Amino acid sequence: MSTLKTALTGIKPTGAPHIGNYLGAIRPGLALAADPAVRAFYFIADHHALTSVGSAAELRRDTLEVAATWLAFGLDPARVTFYRQSDVPEIFELSWILACQTPKGFMNKAHAYKAVADRNLEAGEPEDAGVNIGLYTYPVLMAADILIVDADLVPVGKDQVQHVEIARDLAARVNHHFGDGALRLPKAAVVEHSAVVPGLDGRKMSKSYGNSLPCFLPAKKLRKEVMRITTDTTPPEAPKDPDSSLVYQIHRALIEPAAAAALADVYRAGVSWGEAKQLLADELERQLADPRARYDDLMAHPAQIDALLADGAARARAVAGPVLARVKAAVGLR
Ligand code: TRP
Repeated sequence: MSTLKTALTGIKPTGAPHIGNYLGAIRPGLALAADPAVRAFYFIADHHALTSVGSAAELRRDTLEVAATWLAFGLDPARVTFYRQSDVPEIFELSWILACQTPKGFMNKAHAYKAVADRNLEAGEPEDAGVNIGLYTYPVLMAADILIVDADLVPVGKDQVQHVEIARDLAARVNHHFGDGALRLPKAAVVEHSAVVPGLDGRKMSKSYGNSLPCFLPAKKLRKEVMRITTDTTPPEAPKDPDSSLVYQIHRALIEPAAAAALADVYRAGVSWGEAKQLLADELERQLADPRARYDDLMAHPAQIDALLADGAARARAVAGPVLARVKAAVGLR
Protein backbone atom coordinates (compact mmCIF):
# COMPACT_ATOMS: atom_id res chain seq x y z
CA MET A 1 0.00 0.00 0.00
CA SER A 2 1.22 3.44 -0.84
CA THR A 3 1.80 5.86 2.00
CA LEU A 4 1.00 8.81 -0.20
CA LYS A 5 -1.60 10.98 1.51
CA THR A 6 -4.01 13.19 -0.36
CA ALA A 7 -4.34 16.69 1.10
CA LEU A 8 -7.03 19.05 -0.08
CA THR A 9 -7.92 22.56 0.85
CA GLY A 10 -10.21 25.27 -0.48
CA ILE A 11 -9.27 28.91 -0.63
CA LYS A 12 -12.06 31.46 -0.59
CA PRO A 13 -11.48 34.21 -3.14
CA THR A 14 -11.72 37.13 -0.75
CA GLY A 15 -9.44 39.53 -2.58
CA ALA A 16 -5.82 40.45 -2.10
CA PRO A 17 -4.50 38.28 0.75
CA HIS A 18 -2.78 39.86 3.75
CA ILE A 19 0.17 38.83 5.89
CA GLY A 20 -2.15 36.95 8.26
CA ASN A 21 -3.37 34.81 5.34
CA TYR A 22 0.22 34.29 4.23
CA LEU A 23 1.46 33.15 7.62
CA GLY A 24 -1.70 31.31 8.67
CA ALA A 25 -2.58 29.46 5.48
CA ILE A 26 -0.33 30.03 2.48
CA ARG A 27 3.08 29.35 4.01
CA PRO A 28 1.98 26.20 5.91
CA GLY A 29 -0.05 25.05 2.89
CA LEU A 30 2.95 25.31 0.61
CA ALA A 31 5.17 23.54 3.16
CA LEU A 32 2.68 20.66 3.29
CA ALA A 33 2.48 20.47 -0.50
CA ALA A 34 6.28 20.25 -0.70
CA ASP A 35 6.23 17.02 1.35
CA PRO A 36 6.96 14.17 -1.09
CA ALA A 37 4.51 11.95 0.84
CA VAL A 38 1.66 14.33 0.03
CA ARG A 39 -0.43 14.68 -3.09
CA ALA A 40 -1.99 18.12 -2.84
CA PHE A 41 -5.22 19.47 -4.30
CA TYR A 42 -5.66 23.19 -3.66
CA PHE A 43 -8.53 25.05 -5.22
CA ILE A 44 -10.22 28.42 -5.40
CA ALA A 45 -13.66 28.03 -3.80
CA ASP A 46 -15.47 30.38 -6.16
CA HIS A 47 -18.84 28.67 -5.77
CA HIS A 48 -18.56 29.17 -2.02
CA ALA A 49 -17.86 32.84 -2.63
CA LEU A 50 -21.18 33.10 -4.50
CA THR A 51 -23.05 32.92 -1.18
CA SER A 52 -21.99 36.51 -0.56
CA VAL A 53 -20.63 37.90 -3.82
CA GLY A 54 -20.97 41.59 -4.66
CA SER A 55 -20.57 41.57 -8.43
CA ALA A 56 -19.27 39.49 -11.32
CA ALA A 57 -16.28 41.81 -11.71
CA GLU A 58 -15.44 41.45 -8.04
CA LEU A 59 -15.56 37.64 -8.11
CA ARG A 60 -13.40 37.58 -11.21
CA ARG A 61 -10.83 39.95 -9.71
CA ASP A 62 -10.77 38.21 -6.32
CA THR A 63 -10.27 34.82 -7.99
CA LEU A 64 -7.32 36.07 -10.02
CA GLU A 65 -5.75 37.83 -7.03
CA VAL A 66 -5.93 34.79 -4.81
CA ALA A 67 -4.63 32.45 -7.50
CA ALA A 68 -1.78 34.84 -8.36
CA THR A 69 -0.87 35.15 -4.67
CA TRP A 70 -0.43 31.40 -4.15
CA LEU A 71 1.53 31.11 -7.38
CA ALA A 72 3.70 34.12 -6.47
CA PHE A 73 4.57 32.58 -3.11
CA GLY A 74 5.79 29.47 -4.89
CA LEU A 75 2.90 27.09 -5.44
CA ASP A 76 4.22 24.76 -8.13
CA PRO A 77 1.31 23.90 -10.42
CA ALA A 78 3.22 20.87 -11.69
CA ARG A 79 3.16 19.37 -8.18
CA VAL A 80 -0.07 20.76 -6.75
CA THR A 81 -3.32 20.23 -8.57
CA PHE A 82 -4.49 23.85 -8.51
CA TYR A 83 -7.93 24.65 -9.91
CA ARG A 84 -11.16 26.59 -9.73
CA GLN A 85 -14.01 24.78 -7.99
CA SER A 86 -16.47 25.89 -10.68
CA ASP A 87 -14.41 24.09 -13.35
CA VAL A 88 -15.03 20.68 -11.73
CA PRO A 89 -18.73 19.84 -12.19
CA GLU A 90 -18.31 16.45 -10.51
CA ILE A 91 -18.28 18.35 -7.21
CA PHE A 92 -21.88 19.46 -7.73
CA GLU A 93 -23.18 16.04 -8.63
CA LEU A 94 -21.66 14.66 -5.47
CA SER A 95 -22.97 17.63 -3.53
CA TRP A 96 -26.57 16.64 -4.36
CA ILE A 97 -26.03 13.03 -3.41
CA LEU A 98 -24.61 14.20 -0.08
CA ALA A 99 -27.43 16.69 0.44
CA CYS A 100 -29.86 13.80 0.29
CA GLN A 101 -28.01 12.17 3.19
CA THR A 102 -27.74 15.35 5.25
CA PRO A 103 -30.07 15.75 8.22
CA LYS A 104 -31.41 19.30 8.18
CA GLY A 105 -30.45 19.66 11.84
CA PHE A 106 -26.76 19.34 10.93
CA MET A 107 -27.02 22.52 8.94
CA ASN A 108 -28.79 24.39 11.76
CA LYS A 109 -25.73 23.80 13.87
CA ALA A 110 -23.05 24.45 11.24
CA HIS A 111 -21.16 27.55 12.20
CA ALA A 112 -21.15 29.42 8.85
CA TYR A 113 -24.92 29.62 9.18
CA LYS A 114 -25.16 29.72 12.95
CA ALA A 115 -22.87 32.73 13.25
CA VAL A 116 -25.23 34.72 11.02
CA ALA A 117 -28.36 33.39 12.76
CA ASP A 118 -26.95 34.26 16.20
CA ARG A 119 -26.00 37.74 15.06
CA ASN A 120 -29.51 38.22 13.68
CA LEU A 121 -31.15 37.13 16.94
CA GLU A 122 -28.90 39.41 18.95
CA ALA A 123 -29.88 42.33 16.76
CA GLY A 124 -33.55 41.48 17.27
CA GLU A 125 -33.92 40.38 13.63
CA PRO A 126 -35.57 37.20 12.41
CA GLU A 127 -33.10 34.32 12.69
CA ASP A 128 -32.87 33.75 8.94
CA ALA A 129 -32.64 37.36 7.79
CA GLY A 130 -30.25 37.62 4.86
CA VAL A 131 -29.54 33.88 4.84
CA ASN A 132 -29.62 32.20 1.43
CA ILE A 133 -29.79 28.45 0.94
CA GLY A 134 -26.23 28.47 -0.41
CA LEU A 135 -24.98 29.72 2.93
CA TYR A 136 -27.24 27.34 4.82
CA THR A 137 -25.98 24.26 2.95
CA TYR A 138 -22.39 25.51 2.67
CA PRO A 139 -20.98 22.48 4.53
CA VAL A 140 -22.55 20.06 2.03
CA LEU A 141 -20.72 21.65 -0.88
CA MET A 142 -17.56 21.76 1.19
CA ALA A 143 -17.95 18.04 1.94
CA ALA A 144 -18.25 17.34 -1.78
CA ASP A 145 -15.05 19.36 -2.42
CA ILE A 146 -13.23 17.14 0.02
CA LEU A 147 -14.73 13.75 -0.75
CA ILE A 148 -14.54 14.05 -4.55
CA VAL A 149 -10.77 13.45 -4.56
CA ASP A 150 -10.69 10.86 -1.75
CA ALA A 151 -8.87 13.35 0.49
CA ASP A 152 -7.20 12.04 3.66
CA LEU A 153 -6.13 15.36 5.13
CA VAL A 154 -7.78 18.74 5.07
CA PRO A 155 -5.48 21.52 6.27
CA VAL A 156 -7.70 24.25 7.70
CA GLY A 157 -7.81 26.85 10.43
CA LYS A 158 -9.64 26.02 13.64
CA ASP A 159 -12.80 27.73 12.45
CA GLN A 160 -13.25 25.14 9.68
CA VAL A 161 -12.76 21.98 11.72
CA GLN A 162 -16.48 21.54 12.32
CA HIS A 163 -17.13 21.65 8.57
CA VAL A 164 -14.53 18.95 7.95
CA GLU A 165 -16.16 16.85 10.66
CA ILE A 166 -19.47 17.24 8.86
CA ALA A 167 -17.78 15.98 5.68
CA ARG A 168 -16.48 12.97 7.58
CA ASP A 169 -19.94 12.35 9.05
CA LEU A 170 -21.64 12.56 5.67
CA ALA A 171 -19.13 10.15 4.14
CA ALA A 172 -19.77 7.71 6.99
CA ARG A 173 -23.54 8.02 6.49
CA VAL A 174 -23.25 7.26 2.78
CA ASN A 175 -21.02 4.29 3.53
CA HIS A 176 -23.38 3.06 6.22
CA HIS A 177 -26.41 3.36 3.99
CA PHE A 178 -24.97 2.16 0.68
CA GLY A 179 -22.02 0.00 1.54
CA ASP A 180 -18.56 0.52 2.90
CA GLY A 181 -15.95 1.90 0.59
CA ALA A 182 -18.16 4.33 -1.28
CA LEU A 183 -16.36 7.28 0.25
CA ARG A 184 -13.03 7.82 1.98
CA LEU A 185 -13.22 9.40 5.46
CA PRO A 186 -11.18 12.63 5.68
CA LYS A 187 -9.61 14.28 8.73
CA ALA A 188 -8.91 17.91 9.51
CA ALA A 189 -5.24 18.82 9.86
CA VAL A 190 -5.40 21.95 11.96
CA VAL A 191 -2.90 24.57 11.00
CA GLU A 192 -1.69 25.50 14.48
CA HIS A 193 -0.64 29.07 14.92
CA SER A 194 -3.08 30.15 12.31
CA ALA A 195 -4.88 32.88 14.22
CA VAL A 196 -1.92 34.34 16.08
CA VAL A 197 -0.86 37.15 13.77
CA PRO A 198 -2.33 40.32 15.23
CA GLY A 199 -3.37 43.21 13.04
CA LEU A 200 -2.04 46.76 13.20
CA ASP A 201 -4.38 47.56 16.10
CA GLY A 202 -3.91 44.33 18.06
CA ARG A 203 -7.13 42.60 17.04
CA LYS A 204 -6.89 39.56 14.77
CA MET A 205 -5.60 40.65 11.36
CA SER A 206 -8.63 40.83 9.12
CA LYS A 207 -9.54 42.66 5.98
CA SER A 208 -12.90 43.61 7.49
CA TYR A 209 -11.26 45.32 10.48
CA GLY A 210 -9.11 47.51 8.23
CA ASN A 211 -6.08 46.50 10.30
CA SER A 212 -4.28 44.22 7.87
CA LEU A 213 -1.02 44.37 5.97
CA PRO A 214 -1.75 43.34 2.37
CA CYS A 215 1.04 41.12 1.00
CA PHE A 216 1.67 42.99 -2.21
CA LEU A 217 1.51 46.69 -1.56
CA PRO A 218 4.28 48.66 -3.26
CA ALA A 219 7.35 48.71 -0.97
CA LYS A 220 6.90 52.33 0.14
CA LYS A 221 3.24 51.90 0.99
CA LEU A 222 3.94 48.72 2.93
CA ARG A 223 6.52 50.57 5.03
CA LYS A 224 3.99 53.31 5.68
CA GLU A 225 1.42 50.77 6.87
CA VAL A 226 3.99 49.23 9.24
CA MET A 227 4.47 52.69 10.77
CA ARG A 228 0.76 52.65 11.72
CA ILE A 229 1.15 49.69 14.09
CA THR A 230 -0.05 50.65 17.56
CA THR A 231 2.72 51.13 20.15
CA ASP A 232 2.83 52.52 23.68
CA THR A 233 4.58 55.65 24.92
CA THR A 234 7.74 54.04 26.31
CA PRO A 235 10.61 56.51 25.60
CA PRO A 236 12.87 55.59 22.67
CA GLU A 237 15.90 54.32 24.60
CA ALA A 238 13.93 52.52 27.35
CA PRO A 239 13.86 48.70 27.41
CA LYS A 240 10.83 47.24 25.60
CA ASP A 241 8.92 44.14 26.58
CA PRO A 242 8.80 42.12 23.32
CA ASP A 243 5.88 39.97 24.40
CA SER A 244 3.54 42.89 24.92
CA SER A 245 4.61 44.58 21.67
CA LEU A 246 2.50 44.24 18.55
CA VAL A 247 5.44 45.10 16.32
CA TYR A 248 7.35 42.21 17.84
CA GLN A 249 4.46 39.76 17.60
CA ILE A 250 4.04 40.41 13.89
CA HIS A 251 7.80 40.30 13.29
CA ARG A 252 8.20 37.08 15.29
CA ALA A 253 5.64 35.27 13.15
CA LEU A 254 7.76 35.92 10.06
CA ILE A 255 11.09 34.54 11.27
CA GLU A 256 12.71 31.44 12.74
CA PRO A 257 12.59 30.95 16.53
CA ALA A 258 16.33 31.59 16.97
CA ALA A 259 16.12 34.86 15.06
CA ALA A 260 13.02 35.80 17.08
CA ALA A 261 14.92 35.21 20.34
CA ALA A 262 17.76 37.46 19.14
CA LEU A 263 15.25 40.11 18.15
CA ALA A 264 13.64 39.95 21.61
CA ASP A 265 17.05 40.81 23.09
CA VAL A 266 17.26 43.87 20.86
CA TYR A 267 13.89 45.00 22.25
CA ARG A 268 14.97 44.42 25.84
CA ALA A 269 18.15 46.39 25.24
CA GLY A 270 15.96 49.36 24.29
CA VAL A 271 15.17 49.83 20.63
CA SER A 272 13.01 52.80 19.65
CA TRP A 273 9.61 51.98 18.17
CA GLY A 274 10.64 53.74 15.00
CA GLU A 275 13.67 51.48 14.64
CA ALA A 276 11.70 48.37 15.59
CA LYS A 277 9.23 49.16 12.83
CA GLN A 278 12.02 49.71 10.32
CA LEU A 279 13.43 46.28 11.22
CA LEU A 280 10.01 44.72 10.62
CA ALA A 281 9.56 46.59 7.35
CA ASP A 282 13.02 45.42 6.22
CA GLU A 283 12.12 41.80 6.99
CA LEU A 284 8.82 42.09 5.12
CA GLU A 285 10.63 43.55 2.15
CA ARG A 286 13.18 40.72 2.22
CA GLN A 287 10.42 38.11 2.12
CA LEU A 288 7.97 39.90 -0.16
CA ALA A 289 10.06 41.62 -2.84
CA ASP A 290 10.41 38.58 -5.11
CA PRO A 291 6.86 37.26 -4.68
CA ARG A 292 5.58 40.82 -5.28
CA ALA A 293 7.41 40.98 -8.62
CA ARG A 294 5.99 37.60 -9.62
CA TYR A 295 2.52 38.65 -8.45
CA ASP A 296 2.59 41.87 -10.48
CA ASP A 297 3.71 39.94 -13.52
CA LEU A 298 0.96 37.33 -13.15
CA MET A 299 -1.72 39.96 -12.63
CA ALA A 300 -0.56 41.62 -15.83
CA HIS A 301 -1.15 38.29 -17.63
CA PRO A 302 -4.50 36.92 -16.43
CA ALA A 303 -4.73 34.56 -19.40
CA GLN A 304 -1.69 32.78 -18.02
CA ILE A 305 -3.46 32.28 -14.67
CA ASP A 306 -6.60 31.05 -16.43
CA ALA A 307 -4.57 28.53 -18.44
CA LEU A 308 -2.85 27.17 -15.32
CA LEU A 309 -6.18 26.80 -13.52
CA ALA A 310 -7.75 25.11 -16.54
CA ASP A 311 -4.92 22.60 -16.66
CA GLY A 312 -5.37 21.95 -12.94
CA ALA A 313 -9.10 21.43 -13.43
CA ALA A 314 -8.49 18.83 -16.12
CA ARG A 315 -6.23 16.92 -13.74
CA ALA A 316 -8.71 17.28 -10.87
CA ARG A 317 -11.51 15.95 -13.08
CA ALA A 318 -9.41 12.92 -13.98
CA VAL A 319 -9.43 12.04 -10.27
CA ALA A 320 -12.97 13.21 -9.50
CA GLY A 321 -14.63 11.32 -12.36
CA PRO A 322 -13.85 7.81 -11.10
CA VAL A 323 -14.76 8.76 -7.51
CA LEU A 324 -18.12 10.09 -8.66
CA ALA A 325 -18.72 6.97 -10.77
CA ARG A 326 -17.99 4.81 -7.74
CA VAL A 327 -20.44 6.73 -5.55
CA LYS A 328 -23.14 6.76 -8.22
CA ALA A 329 -22.83 3.02 -8.63
CA ALA A 330 -22.99 2.59 -4.84
CA VAL A 331 -26.23 4.57 -4.52
CA GLY A 332 -27.81 2.93 -7.57
CA LEU A 333 -27.62 5.78 -10.04
CA ARG A 334 -26.81 3.87 -13.19
N1 TRP B 1 -14.83 27.01 3.96
C1 TRP B 1 -13.43 27.29 3.74
C2 TRP B 1 -13.13 28.70 4.31
O1 TRP B 1 -14.02 29.47 4.52
C3 TRP B 1 -13.07 27.22 2.30
C4 TRP B 1 -13.35 25.86 1.73
C5 TRP B 1 -14.26 25.54 0.80
C6 TRP B 1 -12.64 24.66 2.06
N2 TRP B 1 -14.21 24.21 0.51
C7 TRP B 1 -13.23 23.64 1.26
C8 TRP B 1 -11.61 24.35 2.94
C9 TRP B 1 -12.78 22.32 1.34
C10 TRP B 1 -11.18 23.05 3.02
C11 TRP B 1 -11.77 22.03 2.23
O2 TRP B 1 -11.98 29.01 4.51
